Amino acid sequence: MELFLNITIVWGVYLGIGVFVIGMGWRIYDWVTTPKSPVKLGMYPKPKTTAGRYLKAFKDTFIAPQSAKIEPKMWFFAFAFHVAALGAFFGHGRLLHEFTPLVNWLGDEGMDTFAAWSGGTAGIIMLVGVLFWIGRRTFGPYKQLSVPEDFLLLFLLFGIIIMGDHMRFVGHIHAETYREWFQSLLVFKPEIPTEILSSKTGWSLGAHMLFTDLFLIYFPFSKLVHTIGAFSANLVRSE
Ligand code: HEM
Repeated sequence: MELFLNITIVWGVYLGIGVFVIGMGWRIYDWVTTPKSPVKLGMYPKPKTTAGRYLKAFKDTFIAPQSAKIEPKMWFFAFAFHVAALGAFFGHGRLLHEFTPLVNWLGDEGMDTFAAWSGGTAGIIMLVGVLFWIGRRTFGPYKQLSVPEDFLLLFLLFGIIIMGDHMRFVGHIHAETYREWFQSLLVFKPEIPTEILSSKTGWSLGAHMLFTDLFLIYFPFSKLVHTIGAFSANLVRSE
């Protein structure tokens, strides 16, 4: 267990974050140094004002009305997944620092109940979303359009989420212990608390992080990298 955890929740995290940061830096450098098209790429109808352009790019990126029109069912699951992922992202902030104002308001027990409900709901919605996407690519017409990369990304996401949910619904390790481990990584003095080493949930954390490490390493080289440039691409569509 100790070796597995050292690989997945210590060195794997450093490697994952390192490759992610360097990979994204290289991507962004590549984007900003690529010469701009001399031809305007905007499509009609175009908003007349700059504020209108930004508003449209914002709407196209974060609400995606085009997708809602073309494939409403997929849009619904994707929208729900992204809202839940945003919620889970903020929830993971508890690993960095306790949400003190919320604890002062709700009390320690109230905070844990709130985290259990909000984290649990986000985890279930994300799981349903990813299962929908796997189903969509495995059965029906999208099967023909799907390539192995699509399945690899969905498999990694599925692994991250199912193991996160396992910790949330089955595990008994408190957020404070996870925070102790995560903060030790941030100050480059990695330590794995005994509660994690001696609990079966340690395996779930190791698996959650193994999938996350692989996801971070792969992200800058995968098709998902386009999500980062989505806003500027949508802005170009109205120039
Ligand atoms: C450095 C990266 C990450 C760390 C350190 C981390 C750590 C954790 C921990 C410790 C838990 C258990 C929370 C508890 O039961 O108290 C958890 C749960 C969870 N994680 Fe992560 N995670 C990371 C990345 C991700 C990513 C990239 C995703 C999704 C794409 C994700 C999705 C989830 C979900 C759905 C849960 C269960 C629901 C919840 O408690 O929020 N995690 N994670």
